[in-house]
Amino acid sequence: MPVPGPGYSITVRLEAPPSASAAGDLTTAVGRVGGVLTAFDVVESHADAIVIDITVNVASADHADGITTELDSLPGVRVRKVSDRTFLMHLGGKLEVSPKVALRNRDDLSRAYTPGVARVCQAIAANPEDARRLTIKRNTVAVVTDGSAVLGLGNIGPAAALPVMEGKAALFKKFSGVDAWPVCLDTQDTEEIIRIVTALAPVYAGINLEDIAAPRCFEIERRLRDQLDIPVFHDDQHGTAIVVVAALRNALRVVNKPIEQVRIVVSGVGAAGSAIIRLLRRKSPADIVAVDIDGIVHADRPGLDDNLRWVAENTNGKQLSGSLHDALVGADVFIGVSAPNLFGAEQVATMADDPIVFALANPDPEIDPLEAQRHAAVVATGRSDYPNQINNVLAFPGVFRGLLDAHAHHIDDDMLLAAANAIADVVDDRLNASYIVPSVFDNAVAPAVAEAVKVAARKDDVVSTA
Ligand SMILES: NC(=O)c1ccc[n+]([C@@H]2O[C@H](COP(=O)([O-])OP(=O)(O)OC[C@H]3O[C@@H](n4cnc5c(N)ncnc54)[C@H](O)[C@@H]3O)[C@@H](O)[C@H]2O)c1
Repeated sequence: MPVPGPGYSITVRLEAPPSASAAGDLTTAVGRVGGVLTAFDVVESHADAIVIDITVNVASADHADGITTELDSLPGVRVRKVSDRTFLMHLGGKLEVSPKVALRNRDDLSRAYTPGVARVCQAIAANPEDARRLTIKRNTVAVVTDGSAVLGLGNIGPAAALPVMEGKAALFKKFSGVDAWPVCLDTQDTEEIIRIVTALAPVYAGINLEDIAAPRCFEIERRLRDQLDIPVFHDDQHGTAIVVVAALRNALRVVNKPIEQVRIVVSGVGAAGSAIIRLLRRKSPADIVAVDIDGIVHADRPGLDDNLRWVAENTNGKQLSGSLHDALVGADVFIGVSAPNLFGAEQVATMADDPIVFALANPDPEIDPLEAQRHAAVVATGRSDYPNQINNVLAFPGVFRGLLDAHAHHIDDDMLLAAANAIADVVDDRLNASYIVPSVFDNAVAPAVAEAVKVAARKDDVVSTA
């Protein structure tokens, strides 16, 4: 059931009598119908009335209507207007382009634009690598989507995906100073997406693929990585994998188990699950058992596509078959990136001692975290209203900062692991069962990740050019 939060917040402008009890009556009315009052501002004051803005976190549209009706029904109160603060924040979009150079006079114009700019163009034509030195390419990333798998909303198309991509670009700038720009494509054809991204790549030093549905996302990323000389990173895959590997490293420290001795169940073998499995394998766990909507993935299961075939051949050492519940028996770790409400406390009780449960399906996890806590030693979710939030914001800003600073031409698993280790290290001696990953607002995270990725990228460049 949704609870009031800042994602749905309204400001109600109303007139009230100027009596001593008015403020108390209004705040009591909000509380009576379950709103969470966050601000109370008197914006006008007259002898016979005051005008007040009341800001309230609500749970849903119906809840907002209920609060407005409750306030409007108080004696002498008249609601003038209700504003949705989330929509207000999006009016006209969340980004703008702002020049870094002053254009005060003809002299400035002649250098920023023609005729002076022509010599800069010729320099880049003669030496294309100079584009990183002399243009926005140095610091710019394309956030590319086809709108086919947006948040938990599904295939809502490129225009509806734009607010998410703008938000992503804002996070890039805020957390690591990277200039990211949304590129929402009006096609869901794999070949066309590859062609368009290849054609627009000259402007960018990196491509962040976003909210593109599986299995198409795998081929698009693989082909673009082959064709382009800039890093291509599908955040829903690798951003998630990095943070999960970081969180698991610390969770295993809490329960004092070496990863080489743990059996891990991964539920969901789509974009996130496949990337998690691939990166986890680099840490050599005792076994990984993957489960999707059709049950445990094993080599004899009919109808495996290329992705599931790879998973079947590289996991499930004992070739188990059956359901998620079967897979959980005796497992040390559950990592869910699949669907809501798949199991309960009774299944956690069948896991090994001190089990770790990462239930990351959003917005509703595979198991209610409170249920999981009854038997699990460590619980993580994708949600901000519980401890241990697995949030890609911990990874992607620093990852791209490091790639851009290293002038990287590609990205590989060593860089992803370096990022994961850097995130885990930031926790340091603050580690406990409720603190296995740092806060997204911990200023140490992005620089640490950037430095680790930069070092790994440079090492890689030395090896590949030797
Ligand atoms: N940081 C985070 O917390 C984070 C990051 C990435 C994804 N997620 C969440 O993970 C989920 C999956 O994301 P995705 O992008 O990989 O989606 P996806 O559509 O690519 O993959 C979904 C996978 O879940 C499986 N699945 C569906 N219903 C299932 C069921 N009843 N039992 C077992 N498996 C089932 C599907 O077979 C598929 O393998 C979403 O809820 C997403 O919000 C969370």
